[in-house]
Amino acid sequence: MEKSVEEVRTEIPFLDSGIIYLDNAATTPTPESVIEAMFEYYHEYSANIGRGVHKTAKRATEAFESSRKKIAKVIGSDSKEVVYTKNTTEGLNLLAKGLNLEKGDKVIATVLDHHSNLIPWQRLEEEKGIELKILRECPDFVIDPCAVEEAIDERTRIVTMPSVSNAFGTRQPVEEVGEITQENDVLFSVDAAQSVGHMPVDVKEIECDFMATPGHKGLLGPQGTGFLYVREELIEDIKPLLCGGGIVKGVEEHTCELINPPQVFDAGTPNIPGIIGLGKAAEYVLDIGLEKIERRERKLGDRILDIAELDNVHVYGLGSREKLGGVVSFNLEGLDSHEVSSLLDEIGNIATRSGHHCAEPAMKHFDIGGNVRASVHYYNTMEEMEEFLEVLDEISKELT
Ligand code: ALA
Repeated sequence: MEKSVEEVRTEIPFLDSGIIYLDNAATTPTPESVIEAMFEYYHEYSANIGRGVHKTAKRATEAFESSRKKIAKVIGSDSKEVVYTKNTTEGLNLLAKGLNLEKGDKVIATVLDHHSNLIPWQRLEEEKGIELKILRECPDFVIDPCAVEEAIDERTRIVTMPSVSNAFGTRQPVEEVGEITQENDVLFSVDAAQSVGHMPVDVKEIECDFMATPGHKGLLGPQGTGFLYVREELIEDIKPLLCGGGIVKGVEEHTCELINPPQVFDAGTPNIPGIIGLGKAAEYVLDIGLEKIERRERKLGDRILDIAELDNVHVYGLGSREKLGGVVSFNLEGLDSHEVSSLLDEIGNIATRSGHHCAEPAMKHFDIGGNVRASVHYYNTMEEMEEFLEVLDEISKELT
């Protein structure tokens, strides 16, 4: 059953305060039904998973495992390919560490990458002597797929990039890059922090091998949850970040035999309520409809783009307007981005994010100190967009 905007808004009491929340690219509010799923676990069956034989432990294990199926549905994968993490950062660290790269191997990333998709690879440069090549060819904030093709050589093991730039909101050509990496027999990893839950995403169509995703952004799930998609044929080759209880068939004093993936990645007691909530959230966005979410976010984002008409306002990425959706970044000439964000908050109770958005190399590459980012989700309204435009107009007029 498709959910209307009004229905979704009534499920987000956080909005009752009158806040205009345009910081959805950082994290999204959690709907009541997702919170209830977590409450239900705490109230009715808060046992550990994969261990006890009593019926409450079995119920917890089943609920925890059923979230893999629900998540898989959102990204077009099999549940065996879903590895739970606590956020996108953990997924990317798990991948960088677990791939077992060697000295001389080359990793290709992009200047648009979030710090969480740069620092784990930088570590490998330092610790293992891999080569990290950063692609800078991104006219209008969109990575040029030809540059990816040119950078691939016989030492290249993996290409990694964001599906949507978190700092500029531009959609990246992951399908084209997926094809290029396939043809060149190179692995492909996507940082999907700003796409899954905001639009239809299909890992088979993208032809990616890995995709790191947060639970608490597009999916409207709880904070502290996320997952890494790993293509089935590769999952045995990825080493878990953690080892310990709950992931072994048997242990001797000096050796152990591990269980199979994906459960082998769940060492220790995981975030059981969070993952159950994430499964509910995956169902929730599917209920709204991912195409419907994408259409609505684009419409809201389009209205925000009208700020480009205001005095002193510079919007980024307008040269590739068709690549922009629900994330819009801008600056007001003469004011620091943090000052603009604070004024929006003080005058209009409007929440945006400002600064470098954990994408310092991108900001430096484009010679921008930082910018203001307004980001929407399905539940935002056109009235909120109008209010945002009005308040920004007021701030910009004060400057002239
Ligand atoms: N990665 C999040 C952002 O872009 C926190 O704001």
